Amino acid sequence: MTEKNTAIITGASSGIGQATAKELAARGYHVMLAARREERLVDLKKEIEAEGGSADYKVTDVTSADEMKSLAQAALEKTGKIDILVNNAGLMPLSYMNKLKLDEWDQMVDVNIKGVLYGIAAVLPIMEEQKSGHILNVSSVAGHQVMKGSAVYSGTKYAVRAISDGLRQEIDPSHEIRVTIVSPGAVATELTDTITDDDVLDSFKSMSMEPLQAEDIANAIGYAVEQPSHVDVNEILIRPRQQP
Ligand SMILES: NC(=O)c1ccc[n+]([C@@H]2O[C@H](COP(=O)([O-])OP(=O)(O)OC[C@H]3O[C@@H](n4cnc5c(N)ncnc54)[C@H](OP(=O)(O)O)[C@@H]3O)[C@@H](O)[C@H]2O)c1
Repeated sequence: MTEKNTAIITGASSGIGQATAKELAARGYHVMLAARREERLVDLKKEIEAEGGSADYKVTDVTSADEMKSLAQAALEKTGKIDILVNNAGLMPLSYMNKLKLDEWDQMVDVNIKGVLYGIAAVLPIMEEQKSGHILNVSSVAGHQVMKGSAVYSGTKYAVRAISDGLRQEIDPSHEIRVTIVSPGAVATELTDTITDDDVLDSFKSMSMEPLQAEDIANAIGYAVEQPSHVDVNEILIRPRQQP
């Protein structure tokens, strides 16, 4: 068993999750990488280890409560504790509601909401037993405001904020368990690849701004987790300077 603090990161195969895994590994955490694309997790584990960090991975679909529980158990077996869970996995197939893309609505509810709930369910009993831990749930600026095309995605991200704030208030005050909402604006990742609605894609063409990089969000997460234990960074709302 290693002596390191352990961080589980879902959606670690790309974008914000990948950058967060590197950031937390560089800060000395043993990182447990989770996503569906195994080859990407293998590469990331190698990259972190080449930099002197410590990483494991477990192929996990966050829409399965059982797989999320197995992920938590695998992390626990390695280091005997779970210090951090970053519930980051998500997808954003934006569309106008009258396109009736029910499959995409289902996917967003399953990954963006249920995935977060299953993550909480997997680690909360362990953190309560430890009397310590930190759960960070990735929401979005879209969890603060709705735009044309974002109705369902925003719905899922508003839900993440509601779930997180409720959880935070329910934590036994004698436990050192913290909950943080991470709400990014536009970040240059693969997230927009899931958009199939041409009207939404057309509306993107007129936008011009310098987006955030995944590392900008990872840095913010690094800040939140390294605060003294009496400090709970409730939410990080972080936009590109040019984003309205
Ligand atoms: N990029 C932005 O502008 C932005 C802004 C605000 C909020 N966010 C949020 O940030 C989070 C990360 O997104 P990103 O921008 O980094 O996008 P990304 O590069 O597309 O990463 C999404 C990650 O989620 C994982 N994922 C998707 N479905 C999954 C499932 N069923 N089970 C396990 N993992 C799953 C993907 O891995 P696999 O496909 O390998 O499973 C991938 O690693 C999301 O929650 C997103 O909503 C992003």
